[in-house]
This record gives sequence, structure tokens and C-alpha cells, in this order.
Amino acid sequence: MNKHIEVLTDTDSLIARAQELILKKLEAAIQMRGRFTMALAGGSTPKPLYESLAAGNLPWDKIHVFWGDERYVPPDHPDSNERMARLAWLDRVDIPATNIHPIPTGEGNPAVSALKYEQHLQQFFQAAPGVFPALDVILLGMGDDGHTASLFPHTDALKVRDRLITVGNKDGQPRITFTYPFINAARCVMFLVAGANKRMALGQVFAESSDSEQYPSRLIQPHGELWWLLDAAAGSELEQK
Ligand code: 6PG
Repeated sequence: MNKHIEVLTDTDSLIARAQELILKKLEAAIQMRGRFTMALAGGSTPKPLYESLAAGNLPWDKIHVFWGDERYVPPDHPDSNERMARLAWLDRVDIPATNIHPIPTGEGNPAVSALKYEQHLQQFFQAAPGVFPALDVILLGMGDDGHTASLFPHTDALKVRDRLITVGNKDGQPRITFTYPFINAARCVMFLVAGANKRMALGQVFAESSDSEQYPSRLIQPHGELWWLLDAAAGSELEQK
């Protein structure tokens, strides 16, 4: 793993830097493998990035979009991560519908939906059972409690190591989420973290020793590249040593 920590002055420059890195990865992936695969983060931080990507003239037919986690709601629900990304980006560009791979949430049973997404991913990547396929980029946010995707502190999802997808739990509300070993299989994992309310958790995530069950973002140690893009409010004390 090679770890990069960059503290940008504000969220606009954080988003601009994220886009710059993503476009570099996109170009390289398409050159090498003929396609680019990226998993999106939910929440609010990445929304301006998605809006900015919508303005680009990109080879949409070679780009495949997944989600790293999803709330267990219909795709037209205000809390849906799929809905946010479609409104901010995907509905505004000519990306083929078959290149958009949302997490299913209509089965009435989160475990069934998780299995369905896992099977879809295995089929898409032609991955044998037990093999963690490598996405080109996985975007992640981090909550002020140190969670990432829907890997929340002290939940069962943190213990799942033999699946791509599992059921997360936020205050009793089911989520569908990438497991941390699947995230760690990515070629590049990119955290986008902004805001003073993230400082404490960041300090714990970057501490020499701290509890990964309490701060699940510590579990993200990818075999590939790890990028932490922080704004000054969140990470001014964490400049790469
Ligand atoms: C979600 C996200 C979640 C998010 C963090 C940070 O479904 O909410 O995947 O992990 O990235 O909670 O959210 P903000 O960017 O809104 O701070």
C-alpha cells in the first residue's frame, strides 16, 4: 500500500484535486484494460465532485459506476445514495444505463439484496467465489464517528471477511455495504473528508494505536493506493510527515 495524505485549503480545492486524480486513474485504466470501474460514496461531501464530473466530456461508454454502500430505501427516496449520484451526475451524461450498477434495495430483505449485489459483481468481474475483484477507484467518505461506507462502529459488518457485500447497521437502520476486505482489494481507495467535525475521528484513525472496532476507517489498508484528501478544517494537523 502507498498512502498519500493531502490537506487542501478548502472543499473546492479538495474536490478539484479528487477530480484530477480520478481522471488520471480513468485514463490509465481505459488505456490498460479498456474500461474504468469506480464505486461511489454517499453522504454530502462527494456531491460537488459528481456535479463536476458531469461537466466533463468523458468516454462514458467505458465507465462503470457502482456504489460502496446504500441505505435500504427505494432509489427515489431522499436518503438514497443512488438518487443523489443520478441527480448530481449520471442523469446529466450519456452513460449507458447498463454501465450504472446500483445496489438493489427492493427485495424486502437486506441480506437477499446484499447477496444479489455480490452475485452481480462476481458476474461483472468474472470473479471466482472467494476472490475479491479489484475496482479501479473506490471513493469513500468518513463520518465523525470514524465509520466509512456503511461500516459503523461495533457492528457485525466489521467482522465479515469472506464476502464482497454485507448488511450494515446504522442505529438499527439496515444498510448494504462493501466489506472492508473488498474495499482493500481496490487499485485505489480515495477518502474525501471535509469539516472540523471530522478532526477527532481523523486523529484516532491516524493514531499509532487505536481501536478499529471503534474507528472502522482504520480497517481500510488497501493493497493498492490509499489517498486521504482532507480540507484544512478536517486535517490541518495531519500533514503527511
Ligand atoms: C453514506 C456514506 C457514508 C458517508 C459518511 C460521510 O451512505 O452516508 O457512504 O459513509 O460517506 O457518513 O458523510 P458526509 O460526506 O455527508 O460527511
